[in-house]
Amino acid sequence: MSKPFNSPERASKISAPYKVLCVCLGNICRSPTAEVILQQQALRAGLDIQVDSAGTSNYHPNKTPDSRSQRHAQAHGYDLSHLRARQLQLADFQDFDLILAMDHDNYADILRLKAQADQVNAKVALMSAHDAIYPKQALPDPYYGGADGFERVIAQCESSSAAWVKYWQSQGIG
Ligand code: 4NP
Repeated sequence: MSKPFNSPERASKISAPYKVLCVCLGNICRSPTAEVILQQQALRAGLDIQVDSAGTSNYHPNKTPDSRSQRHAQAHGYDLSHLRARQLQLADFQDFDLILAMDHDNYADILRLKAQADQVNAKVALMSAHDAIYPKQALPDPYYGGADGFERVIAQCESSSAAWVKYWQSQGIG
């Protein structure tokens, strides 16, 4: 028998997939890497989760991810080439269920913008919130550094993504 339209089961189906937005400063290094890794891990776990990314700044509108990020990601089997940078906007707080900040400055900037939004569905959390290896740590900005910074971004995104997938499975999300 089909569910009535106002049942909780029906409501959760209507709002599926669970939508997650990864946010850093420029949307060309950390958050595109996080987007692809988190999306891949969620898909592999069979979760109905849709991942996007954005930047708190508008420094690189419509740009492809930083060539160093793309190169390091490629070496680990991740393709970032289809992504284009965009700035976080007020509508994102209505459109997404969860906004993940890559570092604590991003987190504070996201909360400042959230305070201006009329419609808010999104919770805001750190990318590393459930990560036992990098607990509540910032995902360090690799932009002005060397190769080890880009490798750290990939390792930490993999670890934090696995922790989010485990958390969503424990909560029946996605
Ligand atoms: P992201 O890295 O926030 O991880 O994308 C940065 C990219 C660009 C700049 C800073 C950080 N920038 O100053 O242009």
